Amino acid sequence: MTHPYQPYLDEILIDSSAIEQRVRELGEQITVDYTGTGNLLLLCILKGGVMFLTDLMRHIDVPHSIDFMAISSYGGGVRESSGRVRIDMDLRQDIAGKNILIVEDIIDSGHTMQYILSLLETRQPASLRICTLLSKPSRRLVPVPLDYVGFEIPDKFVFGYGLDLDEHFRNLPFVGVCKPGIKFGAG
Ligand code: IMP
Ligand code: MG
Repeated sequence: MTHPYQPYLDEILIDSSAIEQRVRELGEQITVDYTGTGNLLLLCILKGGVMFLTDLMRHIDVPHSIDFMAISSYGGGVRESSGRVRIDMDLRQDIAGKNILIVEDIIDSGHTMQYILSLLETRQPASLRICTLLSKPSRRLVPVPLDYVGFEIPDKFVFGYGLDLDEHFRNLPFVGVCKPGIKFGAG
């Protein structure tokens, strides 16, 4: 049977069992690191971080709450970050004194995360750390301090497990590499 994603998929980069194992490891490490600190808030960046958050939190055995922010970058090409970042949905709660762990799908140029960090720092959390499923180190334009990284990946456009190809295929249980130069609907 042909699946709808197949015309767009070059190869599976990280399969679902590798993701599952790594997410469990990250959850266990976070559990160790935050045991006894209290006031942990997992701050998921919409939309890409959603699947990662919901799997990760199952492996975090310290009391915590979750919340969401929606951020988008705009003005560049479809798959190039311009460095201009906009908040589509901000937090409604005060994060002063809380231990914030940002949960993100991918760090590419670093512009989005740098923006989020500089914004949240002004709100005086007790601590501010980053957990990202994926990182593309070779694409970094601005340095971002990463505390937890699932996988470092090469400079390829990927989709699945929360990441989208033109808003599609976030539901896939694996991370796949997109065929070069293809847009959704053109396959
Ligand atoms: P940055 O600001 O360049 O670090 O870009 C970060 C954002 O771009 C991520 O939160 C994703 O939404 C998106 N992004 C970057 N690379 C990919 C990719 O390979 N697939 C899907 N989305 C990506
Ligand atoms: Mg994102």
